[in-house]
Amino acid sequence: MKDRFTLDVVDALDPEFDRLAKLARSEDFRFMDTLIDRWRDGSNRFDQPGEAYFAVRRDGRLIAAGGLNRDPYCQEPGTGRVRHVYVEPDVRRSGAGRLLVEAIVDRARDAFKIVRLRTQTQRGALFYEALGFVRCDDPTATHRLAL
Ligand SMILES: CC(C)(COP(=O)(O)OP(=O)(O)OC[C@H]1O[C@@H](n2cnc3c(N)ncnc32)[C@H](O)[C@@H]1OP(=O)(O)O)[C@@H](O)C(=O)NCCC(=O)NCCS
Repeated sequence: MKDRFTLDVVDALDPEFDRLAKLARSEDFRFMDTLIDRWRDGSNRFDQPGEAYFAVRRDGRLIAAGGLNRDPYCQEPGTGRVRHVYVEPDVRRSGAGRLLVEAIVDRARDAFKIVRLRTQTQRGALFYEALGFVRCDDPTATHRLAL
């Protein structure tokens, strides 16, 4: 199924993002709303050096999204942050999340020495650990990956 996914860098949010954010909200994940709010008010469009936001589509439909910011919580230079990663429930465990996060990590190698993230779910922790991230003991991050 993975070969039916396409991956692109997002330069503008289309209405499909509202649909994905609604699905996320129905599971009590608010971070896709945060993504949309901050993109629209211009405070975070993942457009600073080294940053990017990615969309995964299948048959033209947005099914997953996630991105790379400079880590705003870390003063250490060269630290990126994986952010706002969400896969539509119906397509989970089909490799979309892996495709997305591997693209984020590849991009991060150009600009960062480490990427960090915070996940609040056991599912998220198992997912990131399957991709090579290790747990870290920090108030602003649960996982990190040295690049
Ligand atoms: C976490 C999430 C991004 C994973 O996306 P996904 O497309 O299902 O992940 P993949 O299919 O690429 O999984 C890659 C590997 O991660 C691990 N993994 C993923 N989901 C898992 C789960 N629920 N339990 C255990 N391992 C899991 C597996 O090793 C998996 O490989 P496998 O399917 O070959 O065993 C997705 O479940 C999601 O969006 N959840 C809601 C939002 C969320 O929790 N985001 C995390 C950051 S807050």
